[in-house]
Amino acid sequence: MHFILMKLTGLIYRLILKPLMFKFSTPDSAHEKMIRFGAWAGRHPSLIGLLKFSTKFNSPMLRTLAFLRSFDSPIGFAAGIDKNAEITRCIEGVGFNFATYGSMTAEICPGNHKPWFHRLPKYKSMMIHVGLANNGIEANLENLMRAYDEAETILPGVSIARTNIPHSSTSITAGVKDFTKSFKLLQGNVGLIEVNISCPNAYCGEQFGEPQALEKLLSALDKIPRTAPVVLKMPSDQAWPEFKKLIDVALEHNVQGITICNLRKDRTGMEIPETWKGNLSGKPVQNISDDLVAQSFLYLRGRLVIIGLGGVFTAKDAYRKIRLGADLVEIASALMYEGPQVVSEIKRGLVKLLKRDGFTSIMQITGIDAQKLLSEN
Ligand SMILES: Cc1cc2nc3c(=O)[nH]c(=O)nc-3n(C[C@H](O)[C@H](O)[C@H](O)COP(=O)(O)O)c2cc1C
Repeated sequence: MHFILMKLTGLIYRLILKPLMFKFSTPDSAHEKMIRFGAWAGRHPSLIGLLKFSTKFNSPMLRTLAFLRSFDSPIGFAAGIDKNAEITRCIEGVGFNFATYGSMTAEICPGNHKPWFHRLPKYKSMMIHVGLANNGIEANLENLMRAYDEAETILPGVSIARTNIPHSSTSITAGVKDFTKSFKLLQGNVGLIEVNISCPNAYCGEQFGEPQALEKLLSALDKIPRTAPVVLKMPSDQAWPEFKKLIDVALEHNVQGITICNLRKDRTGMEIPETWKGNLSGKPVQNISDDLVAQSFLYLRGRLVIIGLGGVFTAKDAYRKIRLGADLVEIASALMYEGPQVVSEIKRGLVKLLKRDGFTSIMQITGIDAQKLLSEN
């Protein structure tokens, strides 16, 4: 029954809803409507119950360990889609087992001038130019606390970034203070904190994606008593030697993981109107992220949790990310391109792939292809 409902939802989304949405709604308006609908649905327990029923899928083969806790599956919701933690019940309802809401900032951010999004179906990608618009952590705290209190099968987390307001101070010291404020507010209220040091759409640039500044930031965060694991959201455009320097800084501090990686900036070889501002999600991030995941796995050998994302649309994509070294996997663009049932499709597909290859647990495959990928390159 669950399987039939999942198939039906997939068909309705791919054959009816998506074509209509892509034809009649701008991506900005579609995103806004999706958040409004999700927030409304979340206030109706019967709808969330139906959602849970139609996407239900659990298998002991998918159970995994990270941050000294167990996850029903390694599949999580990536930062960026639910900026203010408004659709948390739907996110748990569709079957994610961890989530990063936000990115949120210490102060309210209006974001960049719209449009914030452009669709690039040819590349299975979205062009993102939001500029960290969000209501500010204090305003969102109630949503976050509710999500944390209600969580049954999900670890709700939040991505934090430096407040992004034009003409405000750009100094590192001010940035550290700003991050510190967010960090303190979240203690006790979320299950995971992702520190976004790689937002490509910010006025100050990616100043904490540079080792010296990162060192200052993490030293300040180390001093704050904490209740949740901390991960760093890593950039997509640093070559391995630079990327490794950031990991080395993380290893010296109270950091438990890295999320690989953020949006891609390089548009080389892609037909994208020059007037479109922003950076790329989805398929164009896939190879970059795969490579960095494999490199990081071989370097870290379990010293930090690796969350892999970028171009995960199918079970095969998630399987590959894990075989390259990801402990956990996140998705963002797939929700727009494939529909909400994609979470359940990926989980079912992962079990099939594990069985096909003779494994009994997802934990057996972490990193087994990392060396092979690097030898091929
Ligand atoms: C609509 C949208 C908004 C995003 N906003 C953020 C954000 O606020 N913070 C962040 O760390 N990443 C953000 N991202 C990047 C994603 O978290 C992810 O790193 C990237 O899209 C690659 O994953 P994907 O291929 O599954 O989309 C955003 C992505 C999308 C699609």
